Amino acid sequence: MSGLPRLENERLVLRPFDLEDAVEVQCLAGDLDIASTTVLVPHPYLDGMAEEWIVTHHAAFVDRRILELAIELRATAELVGAISLTLNMRDACAELGYWVGKPYWGNGYCTEAARLIIEFGFHELKLNRVFAKHMTRNPSSGRVLEKLGMQYEGCLRQHVQKWNQFEDMNVYGLLCQTK
Ligand SMILES: CC(C)(COP(=O)(O)OP(=O)(O)OC[C@H]1O[C@@H](n2cnc3c(N)ncnc32)[C@H](O)[C@@H]1OP(=O)(O)O)[C@@H](O)C(=O)NCCC(=O)NCCS
Repeated sequence: MSGLPRLENERLVLRPFDLEDAVEVQCLAGDLDIASTTVLVPHPYLDGMAEEWIVTHHAAFVDRRILELAIELRATAELVGAISLTLNMRDACAELGYWVGKPYWGNGYCTEAARLIIEFGFHELKLNRVFAKHMTRNPSSGRVLEKLGMQYEGCLRQHVQKWNQFEDMNVYGLLCQTK
């Protein structure tokens, strides 16, 4: 398996981003409330940034560095967000990352998308562990990780710096059950 996968459930399709998604990515990810609680999403989200990001995805997966997928609603084909596994194949481990556009919050989309990509990680990429970190001032992300059945593993104090503020990060982990 070399190309980016397409993963589906009843409500969602996880699929590779396309350059045609760039306008919507800029609009959704450009919201201050997305940048505020993510480590890597830039703000302001300038013209061209989405395209620059999207063109990296194929090689990043071929090299088994990152699996980055768009979250799309099956019913309307609306792009609602992004979900990723940053891979460490040496240790059969990956970090889960995600954002969902603000108009779509609170519908369970992030949790469902995470279930799909984690299942792919365990079964197709043969991962042993998936973990995620969230800023302690971002409880909705912590709630997503709890809903996924992840175990709270601790707090990394002042682990990242966001806009000149050190941020505490909670870490959650999940081990592959089939091993
Ligand atoms: C975190 C994020 C991805 C969640 O997406 P979502 O699709 O709304 O998530 P879900 O609907 O699957 O679950 C959200 C849960 O958080 C809960 N929640 C929302 N606000 C909350 C709060 N202030 N405190 C506690 N829980 C909260 C919701 O009620 C829901 O839980 P429930 O199903 O038990 O009711 C979205 O808010 C987001 O993109 N935030 C900005 C980017 C970001 O922070 N990314 C994560 C970086 S670690």
